[in-house]
Amino acid sequence: MPAEEMAKLGQSQKPLLAYGDGIYVVDSEGRRLIDGPGGMWCTQIGYNRREIADALAEQALRLSYNSPWYTINSPASELAERVAKETPGDLNRVFFTTGGSTAVDTALRFSEYYNNVLGRPEKKQIIVRREGYHGSTSLTAACSGRAGNWPNFDIASERITFISSPRFRPAKGLSEAEFLDELVQEFEQTIERIGPEKVAVFLAEPLLASGGVIIPPKGYHARMKEVCERHDIIYVSDEVVTGFGRCGEWFASEAVFGVVPDIITFAKGVTSGYVPLGGLAISEQLLARVSGANAKGGFFTNGYTYSGHPVSCAAAIANMDVIEKDGILDHVRELAPYFAERLIELKTLPCVVDVRASGLVGCVECMLDPDADEPTALDKRLGSLIDKHCFELGLIVRPLGNMCVMSPPLVITREEVDTMVDILRQGIVLATEDMRTSG
Ligand SMILES: Cc1ncc(COP(=O)(O)O)c(C=O)c1O
Repeated sequence: MPAEEMAKLGQSQKPLLAYGDGIYVVDSEGRRLIDGPGGMWCTQIGYNRREIADALAEQALRLSYNSPWYTINSPASELAERVAKETPGDLNRVFFTTGGSTAVDTALRFSEYYNNVLGRPEKKQIIVRREGYHGSTSLTAACSGRAGNWPNFDIASERITFISSPRFRPAKGLSEAEFLDELVQEFEQTIERIGPEKVAVFLAEPLLASGGVIIPPKGYHARMKEVCERHDIIYVSDEVVTGFGRCGEWFASEAVFGVVPDIITFAKGVTSGYVPLGGLAISEQLLARVSGANAKGGFFTNGYTYSGHPVSCAAAIANMDVIEKDGILDHVRELAPYFAERLIELKTLPCVVDVRASGLVGCVECMLDPDADEPTALDKRLGSLIDKHCFELGLIVRPLGNMCVMSPPLVITREEVDTMVDILRQGIVLATEDMRTSG
């Protein structure tokens, strides 16, 4: 299993899920649980949707596979058009992959190709943020700034430089505007230090999801993009989590965070998790520099056996249809303030040190000592006890250490938000009591 604790290899006691329905999953013992994390931030339209099952079955019978190397299929071309219609700016060219990691990996490989064809092979450096997450291929893992994932892997890469996470901490004495200035200045200084002629890519999630739903200061992305433009650096917006409705828009980059990037990567919500699929949309302007008369005889030899898989693409089209037909983007926009308000109420609990939310994704951060700078091993234990109690009470939490991330299926109702937050509150109270009684 991913993130396997090797000392316990083969003894995993994880819950066996039997089926799902709407925002609920049911385990093999019949326990009905709200899917708090939305699987892994991906079950947008919820479980048990007949529309997706029918689309899968029909496409599997019509054409279950085609080689993307020498043929095309209708679902992939239709989906590419629909995705391109929803992306901002001139991000009109779409390439499909097998998931989020391969989407980001492809974006990075494209930047290599692009700079080599442009005759500047020294322009290869990638700048990323601490606390970011971009996947589990060698290169995307090396771009991920969550130090907990590093031990025993050869992650260090001479091509990658980390800059600060845009997590604003009011306690540090800076205003949000001053903090933003500091972040932009650090970015510019980092580029100057490396040499602008060597920096190829800035890779960033609109909000840092796995880092704990870190929402950058207002205007951050537009300012970073302006710096990128000045130095001819490709801005890759990793929308693997924020895309397909999570923030109330098809894509959050421009509509929520005010930036038109050069490349957007997506996965997860594109099929609501029914089948694997990922992809990226690339700017026409970028492609024009290395295609047609400018191609210099090159082939972009990057691809997967399952690029544009017809069954996955058919599921994604059906998923987009459901999102449109059920007005899910409007629903998320309407419900988001209430979702945030209910989570923020948890701040009345002594161990809840911060609550952050955007769209239908939020994080409740718990620490036993609210004045401590960093979470301790005890805080991580608190996180697992919250998980255990919530599970018994009917909610999956899957905390990231001490951070309880809520990213439920987007079809969740107001009443279900109430139930979810009430259970989370109870779970936090019970876990805190456990910690106190166990000393
Ligand atoms: C922002 C982001 N990028 C990339 C990935 C990797 O996606 P996948 O697990 O589908 O390869 C993830 C996964 O959580 C993610 O959150």
